[in-house]
Amino acid sequence: MTQSSTLIPSARQLLYDRMASKMETANHLSRKVVSFQANKDEPIYRWFKYKEGFSSALVKYFLGEYGNKPGRLLDPFAGAGTTLFAGQELGWQSLGIELLPVGAFVMQAREALNGIDTDKLRRIVKKTWTEISQIEHYVNHIKHITITKDAFPDETERQLNKFLAFCATIEDEKIQTVMRFAAFAVLEDISYTRKDGQYLRWDYRSNRELSGKPFDKGKILTFEEALKHKLNQILVDLLPGQSINLFEQLDSNRHSTIEQNPVSIIEGSCLEELPKLESDAFDFIVTSPPYCNRYDYTRTYALELVFWDKIAIR
Ligand SMILES: C[S@@+](CC[C@H](N)C(=O)[O-])C[C@H]1O[C@@H](n2cnc3c(N)ncnc32)[C@H](O)[C@@H]1O
Repeated sequence: MTQSSTLIPSARQLLYDRMASKMETANHLSRKVVSFQANKDEPIYRWFKYKEGFSSALVKYFLGEYGNKPGRLLDPFAGAGTTLFAGQELGWQSLGIELLPVGAFVMQAREALNGIDTDKLRRIVKKTWTEISQIEHYVNHIKHITITKDAFPDETERQLNKFLAFCATIEDEKIQTVMRFAAFAVLEDISYTRKDGQYLRWDYRSNRELSGKPFDKGKILTFEEALKHKLNQILVDLLPGQSINLFEQLDSNRHSTIEQNPVSIIEGSCLEELPKLESDAFDFIVTSPPYCNRYDYTRTYALELVFWDKIAIR
C-alpha cells in the first residue's frame, strides 16, 4: 500500500463513513429470503423466473419493519416488480421505473390480472388448441438476432407463431396480454438454451456449431406441453377452489387493497425519469440496483427480448 492510499480514503470508504450510522446488519435474514429463491414457489412470482429479483418476503419485511404506515413507494430499478406488487398488497401506492422491456412486460402482465375475467380466460385457454390447429397462414413473429438464431426446434417455432397469431384475435386486452405472457414465460423451456449466468448455454441437439464439452439440458418441452403447463399454473393461481391458489392468501380486504392501489410503471431509465419526479414525492424506497453493469441483462434475456420486440411492433 502506498503512502498516499493510506492517507486518501477511497470513494467507497467515504460513502461507507457517510452512511454507517444508517446501516444495520440483519443476521436473521437468510440467503433464501434475500434472493429470488423465496419467490420460486409463490403464486404469480413462479410464473416467470426473473432471477435478478429479490423476494417479496424481503420487501414485506422492510415495509413492516421500517415503514410507519402505507404511503408512496418507489423502486427506480423495478425489475419484474417485486417491490411494487408486494407494496401494493400491503396498501402502498407504488411507482416503478425499469429500463429492460422484459421486466416492464412482466409488470404489465401482472397489472393485467387486476380485474381480469377469469371465466373468460379459462374458456379461451380451453379452445386454444383447436384454434391453433385451424391456423394455416401466419406471420413469422419472431425476428431473431445472431445470439438467438436457431434457439427453437422448427416445429416449436411454428407452433409459437401460430399461437401468437391466435392471440392477436383475442379482443379482451387483459386476456391477450396474459396469454402472450404465458408464451413469453416458457421460451427457455422450449428452446435449446439454458440461462447460465449472463449467457445462454446451448444444448448439443441445436443446429449450432458448438465447441467444448457437449451440454445436455435434458427434456426440451414441445410448445404445447410447455404452454399447457404454464396456462395451468396461471389458472390454478387465479381461480378459486384449487388447492394452491392466490385467493387462499388474498382475502377480500386484500383484494380491495389491490384494486385501490394500482401500480404505476414507467418504462425507461431512472437516470432520466427520476429528475422529472417531484422531490419528497415518496415515503419509502426499496430497490436493488444493477451491480455496476456487471451483468448484461440483454444477453441473459435475449430470447425474451426478441419475443418482446414482436409484441411491441405487432
Ligand atoms: C437487480 S435488478 C432488480 C430486480 C428487482 N428488485 C426485482 O425484484 O425484480 C436491477 C434492474 O435494474 C434495471 N436497470 C438497469 N439500469 C437501469 C436504469 N438506468 N433505469 C432503470 N432500470 C435500470 C435492470 O434492467 C434490472 O431489471
